[in-house]
Amino acid sequence: MILIVGGAGYIGSHVNKFLSSMGYETVVLDNLSRGHREFVKWGRLVEGDLGDRSLLDRVFREYDVDAVMHFAAFTDVGESVRDPGAYYRNNVMNTMNLLDSMMENGVSGFVFSSTCAVYGNPIEIPITEEHPLNPISPYGRSKLMVEEILRDYHEAYGLNYVSLRYFNAAGADPEGDVGELHDPETHLIPLVLDAAMGRRESVKIFGTDYPTPDGTCIRDYIHVMDLADAHCQALEYLEREEKGVFNLGNGRGFSVREVIEACQKVTGEEIKVVEDDRRPGDPPELIGSSVKAVKILGWKPEFRKLERIIETAWAWHNSRNR
Ligand SMILES: NC(=O)c1ccc[n+]([C@@H]2O[C@H](COP(=O)([O-])OP(=O)(O)OC[C@H]3O[C@@H](n4cnc5c(N)ncnc54)[C@H](O)[C@@H]3O)[C@@H](O)[C@H]2O)c1
Repeated sequence: MILIVGGAGYIGSHVNKFLSSMGYETVVLDNLSRGHREFVKWGRLVEGDLGDRSLLDRVFREYDVDAVMHFAAFTDVGESVRDPGAYYRNNVMNTMNLLDSMMENGVSGFVFSSTCAVYGNPIEIPITEEHPLNPISPYGRSKLMVEEILRDYHEAYGLNYVSLRYFNAAGADPEGDVGELHDPETHLIPLVLDAAMGRRESVKIFGTDYPTPDGTCIRDYIHVMDLADAHCQALEYLEREEKGVFNLGNGRGFSVREVIEACQKVTGEEIKVVEDDRRPGDPPELIGSSVKAVKILGWKPEFRKLERIIETAWAWHNSRNR
């Protein structure tokens, strides 16, 4: 059985669906603070907080857990700057709680949701796993701290782990069972789709004078079902190896303007754009190299085209909001 911590959230719920379709049994632990009960459509749900050590011990005693996938975290970079304490407590301290409970209950396999935010401002594009680690926000630092803890727990206590550094997760389950729903929403594609739907008057572009071809920031969007597939491969990898760190990205970058244009094309709606100043801490370009994941995990992302990614997001958005 796989324990999916944070499995009521965006990425965790897609991974839950994918694992279930591959025949894995799953149990989700989530406090529903930022997730949705209705997203847990596969396996069982244990409602509770990662900070509750006795609950964790009980889950490990009750369920025959072979490995843990850990999605639960606070994820908003801006919020982490305003309230770093909440981020270090939830993302670092609560993760230690989980790891300690795993060690005590004899569970050694761990797949961790890390992020490209551990790299900070890139000095080289595309970003490989060898790129220097220099996060510029408490969010990024909280994830890097966990990566370092994983390394030490491996050496000292025999924890086996894979850290997956996602670039921008995007899109939705093509069958429409689950999708992206953050509150408040900060991710570009759902914001633009909200504007296309008239639920938002306009969409803001933060910075139009970056050193990029159209002046707007460039990001790497990776489909959430491709992320799910990589998690499954990470589990298989842990059967033969003890630790690994992999980027998961598209390998291609799209500017904010390109994303908005692609959304207009997919939805057939005119989207009002408001140009605003740059936000502090937004690097001009973030593009990941996933060569290592392709080579070593055998990962083959299917949804490489931006329009295809947006189509799946739009189908889900529509079914939910109309
Ligand atoms: N969305 C992205 O583009 C992206 C990119 C890079 C990394 N990540 C990482 O992937 C993971 C999942 O991201 P997401 O977008 O699905 O976020 P999400 O907010 O949709 O999901 C997180 C889930 O964790 C739960 N949770 C949070 N704190 C908890 C606690 N203390 N106890 C129990 N449950 C708790 C929330 O209720 C929610 O269901 C996060 O760790 C995030 O840092 C996401």
